[in-house]
Amino acid sequence: MERIELCGALHARVDGWRAAGERLALVPTMGNLHEGHLTLVREARAHAERVVATIFVNPLQFGPGEDLGAYPRTLEEDERLLAREGYDLLFAPAIDALYPRGQEDQTRVEVPRLSDILCGASRPGHFVGVATVVCKLLNMVRPDVAVFGEKDFQQLLVIRRMVEDLAIPVEILGAPTVREPDGLAMSSRNGYLSSQERRRAPALYRALTLAGDALREGGAVDEVEGAASAVLREAGLRPDYVSVRRASDLGPVAPGDCDLVVLAAAHLGRARLIDNLRVLRCSKG
Ligand code: PAJ
Repeated sequence: MERIELCGALHARVDGWRAAGERLALVPTMGNLHEGHLTLVREARAHAERVVATIFVNPLQFGPGEDLGAYPRTLEEDERLLAREGYDLLFAPAIDALYPRGQEDQTRVEVPRLSDILCGASRPGHFVGVATVVCKLLNMVRPDVAVFGEKDFQQLLVIRRMVEDLAIPVEILGAPTVREPDGLAMSSRNGYLSSQERRRAPALYRALTLAGDALREGGAVDEVEGAASAVLREAGLRPDYVSVRRASDLGPVAPGDCDLVVLAAAHLGRARLIDNLRVLRCSKG
């Protein structure tokens, strides 16, 4: 287990493993690790001999006025948690190491349309920043598999589309969302919540499960979205969006679509929380 900060050292290490015929798995993160991240590491371990985790709070995916400065940085504790899982390499570069020409002059990767809806509509440029850094990490590590959480469902689809469109030779694996006992999806941003806000936060998952039940019982999409938003507002959350989409591509739901996803984002205090729930709606008749 080793921490590397420079790209040259990373290349040397992963090239050696690849030359020895070992399979590599990549787990990109922004650190402040929790059980959600650690399940990705376990999933990675199950698919490869070598697990490379990365910790990089990527400035390119934060908009002006967002929480880049406040984002929790807990590298020592993260290393301790990773050590318990048995990783092989932690790549934790400084900003200059990944963006040596500066952020403005960095070539960017844009996944059209999928990047502009839902979280992309509220956070312009966010998914360009995500796609760019993930593309770069994939090219640097050249893993056989890379693991991402379904918690960030739109992000997972953006990355799958990028990998397909740019013919990047990697298998993208999605891992289920890890939740607190009360249903709240684990997130580094939960740390922004006061104890009173923390008690309200499970309303997000509750709204999603109610929406899921209503959809399975034949509820109309717009009514379900409206009811879920009301649940959020009643709990003191400020909904950004609640949206029922086709799970395959986040397109609008057509009458025969069975595989759906309810996605929601809501503000609570300083935090912007996101979550989603996959819903299989069997067609009638
Ligand atoms: P970060 O928010 O640190 O998340 C890193 C990975 O952990 C992502 O794939 C995310 O979906 C997954 N994850 C987060 N919370 C989870 C949970 N409760 N259950 C399961 N998986 C969870 O997502 C990012 O960082 C960045 O955008 C990144 C992909 C690293 C690019 O900068």
